[in-house]
Amino acid sequence: MTNEQRKILVTSALPYANGPIHLGHLLEYIQTDIWVRFQKLRGNTCTYVCADDAHGTPIMLKAQQMGITPEEMINQVQLEHTADFKEFHIEFDNYHSTHSPENQTLSEDIYNKLNQAGHIKTRTISQLFDPEKNMFLPDRFVKGSCPKCGSEDQNGDNCDNCGATYSPTDLVSPKSVISGAEPVLKDSEHYFFDLPEFQNMLKDWTVSGSLQEEMSNKLNEWFEQGLQQWDISRDAPYFGFKIPGTEDKYFYVWLDAPIGYMGSFKNLCDKRDDLDFDSYWNKDSDAEVYHFIGKDIIYFHSLFWPAMLEGAGYRKPTSVYAHGYVTVNGAKMSKSRGTFIKARTYLDHLNPEYLRYYYAAKLNNRIDDLDLNLEDFAQRVNSDLVGKVINIASRTAGFISKRFNATLSTHVSNQDLLDEFVAAEQNIAALYEGREFGKAMREIMALADKANQYIAEEAPWQLAKNEDTLERAHQVCSMGIHLFRVLITYLKPVLPELTAKVEQFLNVELKWADIGNTLVGHEIQSFKALMQRIDMAKVEAMVDASKDNLVAAVPAKDQEQKKAEEATSESAIEPIADTISFDEFAKIDLRIARIVKAEHVEKAEKLLRLELDIGTETRQVFAGIKSAYAPEELEGKLTVMVANLAPRKMRFGESQGMVLAAGPGGKDIWVLSPDDGAQPGMRVM
Ligand code: 2FM
Ligand code: ZN
Repeated sequence: MTNEQRKILVTSALPYANGPIHLGHLLEYIQTDIWVRFQKLRGNTCTYVCADDAHGTPIMLKAQQMGITPEEMINQVQLEHTADFKEFHIEFDNYHSTHSPENQTLSEDIYNKLNQAGHIKTRTISQLFDPEKNMFLPDRFVKGSCPKCGSEDQNGDNCDNCGATYSPTDLVSPKSVISGAEPVLKDSEHYFFDLPEFQNMLKDWTVSGSLQEEMSNKLNEWFEQGLQQWDISRDAPYFGFKIPGTEDKYFYVWLDAPIGYMGSFKNLCDKRDDLDFDSYWNKDSDAEVYHFIGKDIIYFHSLFWPAMLEGAGYRKPTSVYAHGYVTVNGAKMSKSRGTFIKARTYLDHLNPEYLRYYYAAKLNNRIDDLDLNLEDFAQRVNSDLVGKVINIASRTAGFISKRFNATLSTHVSNQDLLDEFVAAEQNIAALYEGREFGKAMREIMALADKANQYIAEEAPWQLAKNEDTLERAHQVCSMGIHLFRVLITYLKPVLPELTAKVEQFLNVELKWADIGNTLVGHEIQSFKALMQRIDMAKVEAMVDASKDNLVAAVPAKDQEQKKAEEATSESAIEPIADTISFDEFAKIDLRIARIVKAEHVEKAEKLLRLELDIGTETRQVFAGIKSAYAPEELEGKLTVMVANLAPRKMRFGESQGMVLAAGPGGKDIWVLSPDDGAQPGMRVM
């Protein structure tokens, strides 16, 4: 290896400790993990740390509504997150929490240093306050009518209907999302980080670093608009760290979140003799520090964070790498379409390495969004990994095992071709280093095509038929294995599990430094199937299982929890999706149905079994409305059903259609007449 060993610290954004990991999150963890594995494979000292982002109002409220302490909730969520990451082969060197002693010490230390240096200012501001809950309301926890277009039930900071942005105090007839009470204005002293003092330093950092072009452009826009002081305090009650020297003020979650990167690394350094915290974070550190993030949090990582570090006397990140959002089948992930797919649901149906490969194949180093097209996903993985790469070994290994005692030939039959594979190393390494994973995958697949072409032309199965050419067949098959070894070494950062199987098969650990060391005369193990093709039925089953509709699971949430979730995640009122043609609409056969019978389904948490009389016949439908209706409330009533939906086999029997209902879930589902409680705009499912 020509490059000297580098010292690198890498982070991914810290996921909030109040929700599950989904395929959108995974783009970032997979991207970072591939980059880190590549660095390690190249012999660099590379450390990858992360943590759960455990503080803030949404987490405090959600725990309250679940009737548990925030500590209990974040511990539970952390277990789920780490289990998901492990199965996706995301190999953190440390996974910690921002609610940790290390993070508290570092946050206080950084704050004190900023304060001593005069970078913290205080002033009194007036904010909306919930008089019933006795707490200030973050913007997302206030709803009301848009001051511009009058549209009802809009968020505290922007209007979904007309796109206006405003301050929550501008809302007409505002309501607290938590209690429903009308908020009042209340004064309180807040602490501010004086970001504008760092403008010149930040401008220098922007040009000196290796920031993505789109990010530099974004930063220049922000510089032009002028930087603002940043409000870093929140009043009690709040789940977080108390600000030193105050009685009832807490650090805003976004202050201690990035410090959580350091906190996790500190926690690791305390467990390991070979890592020294200061040598990574001191001003004169020779280590490289990279943060992988999504495009929505660039402001925090490219302005607040470097300024905080500078102000407190620490080094700044070497670079911050942002990626775009994941869309599924060309659209925003959606619960009703079943494309809001949780990591766990994916794992219930599919091999995690499929997704690692697909994301790698589509990633570049820009901030573009990435579309996970599920048809293309299956097709790409099947054709590239199974059809091209694994095919090389499956066509050649058996013959070597059976006829040549599982020993590779001592003669390399096509040195030029092998040299070409080995020579690709520099280019592929540069592509990995530059986060151009898609280009790297294309290079590797072009080589795989050449290997297959070589085998097809040599046709070892023909050579093997004749005693005179038997040795030649051995050489050709061995050559196939040599090429396969090089390809799998290149793919090792992306496909660690497949690589482990290949290492067992080849009886050797695959190292980047060994790419040129061909296994002549080497003994291999018997070849076992390395990877199954993606079965589209499994993809469909995953989408079905992700559908938050009435036949699938409707989570039984109580009102408060649901509202808190709405306020922090997507809204229950979805924008209208793509239009359909009249012909498509006409295909849906909607019928009025009388519910002649409704009953509980044994062992089903969410379902009721309904018998629906549609005049000509009686249908059985399983509907996920148990959280909202008792069976006896339903019997005898009229509802609307989709009568021509293909029947679905469920664990409890066949569901022959679907009843229409609206609402976000839990107790809030309305079938029968919508004026039971449904609101205009709710999706009918
Ligand atoms: O946006 C988010 O999901 C945050 N939890 C990311 C925090 S990253 C870091 F700054 F801690
Ligand atoms: Zn509006």
